[in-house]
Amino acid sequence: MLPGMKGKPRIAIVGAGNLGCALAISLRKAGYTIEAVIARSRGASLKKAQRLAREIGARAFASRPTSVRADLYWFCVPDSQIARAARALAEQGEWKERIVLHSSGALTSDELAALRGRGAAVASVHPLMTFVRGSRPSLAGVPFAIEGDAAAVRAARQIVSDVGGHAYSIHKADKAAYHAWGTFASPLFTALLATTEQVAGAAGVNRKAARRRMMPILLQTLANYAAFDAAGAFSGPIVRGDVDTVKQHLRVLRDMPAAREVYAALARAALLYLPVKNRNSLKRILAS
Ligand SMILES: NC(=O)c1ccc[n+]([C@@H]2O[C@H](COP(=O)([O-])OP(=O)(O)OC[C@H]3O[C@@H](n4cnc5c(N)ncnc54)[C@H](OP(=O)(O)O)[C@@H]3O)[C@@H](O)[C@H]2O)c1
Repeated sequence: MLPGMKGKPRIAIVGAGNLGCALAISLRKAGYTIEAVIARSRGASLKKAQRLAREIGARAFASRPTSVRADLYWFCVPDSQIARAARALAEQGEWKERIVLHSSGALTSDELAALRGRGAAVASVHPLMTFVRGSRPSLAGVPFAIEGDAAAVRAARQIVSDVGGHAYSIHKADKAAYHAWGTFASPLFTALLATTEQVAGAAGVNRKAARRRMMPILLQTLANYAAFDAAGAFSGPIVRGDVDTVKQHLRVLRDMPAAREVYAALARAALLYLPVKNRNSLKRILAS
């Protein structure tokens, strides 16, 4: 914590979106006081902040009033808004001996330069977890990548530990690649599932039924991946080297160019990263 800060810091959440809501609830459960939820303007933005504030016993504001006595501000605004929101809040009140965090996976603590310039200690603190509307996952067991000023990193590590997460250090230069990894793990994985539903459509199965019928194989695949590793979880025509089957797939996907592209790209990745039989023949048909 910062010098002179006793006990848990009082927190203000800036932005009541998907992350802001889940985070505020986990912090509250871990015994933190949420002083304020700060929105960007009146209207819909403030209404969301008020809803969250009611749930966690906080107050909602459309700016940073001097009456808010938070020690730590956690920016949960979209990446594109972090620097702008930091500049706007930097004009409002005293920032010496305050800690400010943001949770972008790609951007570094330098996005908060305006507040650092006013005396705050700043850090980026990214949970490798997905937060969507209507779901508020627990932060227990979640890894958090952290970099920034020493005092802010110290405070962030303590908070992550209190919510049951695992803190680790990341270099600023690694953040973009780190976030590309995270994007594969959830958003692009979801894009693969959406593509999979389209392919089910070609087999006469509608999206809703496809989703229901795929759950057992999806869950078992993840269980195998967790229990073994990618190679141990890999089954199907490519590991067996069934060249004709792969040819047939590529033929039937001709009418679905986007799905065919995804299939070919992932099959090529399998040739690079996974155990495969008939590698050269598969390579040839995937290149054609
Ligand atoms: N969602 C995830 O899975 C996830 C995972 C890890 C990290 N993150 C990070 O978490 C941050 C937030 O992402 P999110 O998915 O939670 O976004 P989101 O659901 O779009 O929520 C962002 C919230 O910020 C508010 N906002 C925008 N500009 C603001 C400002 N200047 N001042 C105060 N509030 C403002 C928005 O409200 P209005 O538009 O109504 O003003 C909205 O409620 C991002 O940095 C993201 O990279 C997200």
